[in-house]
Amino acid sequence: MKDLRIILLNFETMIVLGIETSCDETGVGLVEDGKLIDHVVAKQDIHSKYGGVVPELASRQHIKKVYPALDILLERTGIKLEDIDGIAVTRGPGLIGPLMVGSLFGRGLAVALQKPFVNVNHLFGHIVSVFFAEKRLDFPFIVLLASGGHTMLILYWDTFHVEVLGETLDDAAGEAFDKAAVLLGLPYPGGPYIDRLAQRGNANKYPMPKPQIPEFNFSYSGLKTAFRYLVEDIRKQGMQKLEEEKPHLAAAIQKAIIDHLFDKIEKAVVQYGLKRVAIVGGVAANSYFRQRLAEKEAEGWETAAPPLPLCVDNGAMIAMAGWLKLKEGKISPLDEAPTPRLPLNEFL
Ligand code: KG4
Ligand code: ZN
Repeated sequence: MKDLRIILLNFETMIVLGIETSCDETGVGLVEDGKLIDHVVAKQDIHSKYGGVVPELASRQHIKKVYPALDILLERTGIKLEDIDGIAVTRGPGLIGPLMVGSLFGRGLAVALQKPFVNVNHLFGHIVSVFFAEKRLDFPFIVLLASGGHTMLILYWDTFHVEVLGETLDDAAGEAFDKAAVLLGLPYPGGPYIDRLAQRGNANKYPMPKPQIPEFNFSYSGLKTAFRYLVEDIRKQGMQKLEEEKPHLAAAIQKAIIDHLFDKIEKAVVQYGLKRVAIVGGVAANSYFRQRLAEKEAEGWETAAPPLPLCVDNGAMIAMAGWLKLKEGKISPLDEAPTPRLPLNEFL
C-alpha cells in the first residue's frame, strides 16, 4: 500500500476538504489557509417523524447525499477535485454507520487524488469552528461546547492543547432542549423550535429550579423532570390552555438550560481570571445564549461565536480542524478506523 503520509504539502496555498457524517447532517466544507471558502450541509428530514435519529436510515441518507453535496460545493466555488490538497473526515464520536460512510468516502477520494488523509475528532471540529468567528480571541480562552451529544467547559490553551474543566453528568444541553421540545409536541430536533417559540414568551412566568452541581459540571435531569411535571399540570387544564402557554414554557426552559451553562462560564471566568469566552456547538446558535454573550461583551468580556450555520454540524469545521492538523504534518494512516466513542483529547 502506498503511504500517503510521505506526500509533501504546500502549506502556503493549502485547500482542505472536510467531510462530516457523524450523525444526521451530511456536511462538506472547504477551507483555504485557515479561512472558509464555502460549505454545504444536506439535512436529513427523514428522522423528524421518529423523534430522534435512526442510525440505519442516517447511514443510507449519507450515502445518497455525500457526493451530491460535494458536487454542489465544487460547482459553487469553481474548485476542482484536483485543486484539493488534503481530505479531512470525522473519525468520531458519533454513530458508527454514518461515520463509516464519510470515512470511506474521504479515504476513497484521498487514494484517487493521491492526497493526504486526516482523521478529525468531531468535538475538536466544533471547538475550532470558533476560528470562523469574526473576532479572533487570544489564547488561552474559555470555550463552552454545547451540542446534542456533549456539554463541556474547556480551557483552550493552544491549538492542540485542550483542557476539559467539566462536562455534563447526564443529558447534554441540546438533548435537554430536544426532550423539552418533545413534551411541547414540537418536531425533532427541537432546539431551534423552542428558540423561535420562546421569542413570544415570558421567561419568568414559570420559574424553573436551578441545578446545583459542583465544580464545572452540568446536569439537566432535575430540570427535565421539573419541566415534565409543569407541562403535565398545564395539560390537565386543557389542550387550549397548553397551546396558549407554550411560548412561556419554551422561554422558561430555554432560560433555565442556558443560565445553567452561563453560571459555569462565569465561575470559570472568575476562577481563571480570564474574560475571553467562546461558545460553540449547535446550542451556540440559540438566540438567548448569544444575547447573554453579547451583554457580557458590553461589560468588557471578549467573546466569540461561529456564524449560526457553523454552530450546528458542518463540514467546514472538519476542514478547519484538518487544515490545522495537516499544517503540522499530522496525517492519518488509511487504516485508522472510525471510533464511535472518541474522547476529546485523543487523536487531536
Ligand atoms: O452540534 P450539533 O449540530 O450536533 C451534535 O454534535 O450533537 O447540535 C445539535 C443540537 C440539537 O440538540 C439541537 O436541538 C440544538 O443543537 N440546537 C439548538 C439550536 N439550534 C440547534 N438548541 C437551542 N437553540 C437553537 N437555536
Ligand atoms: Zn456536533
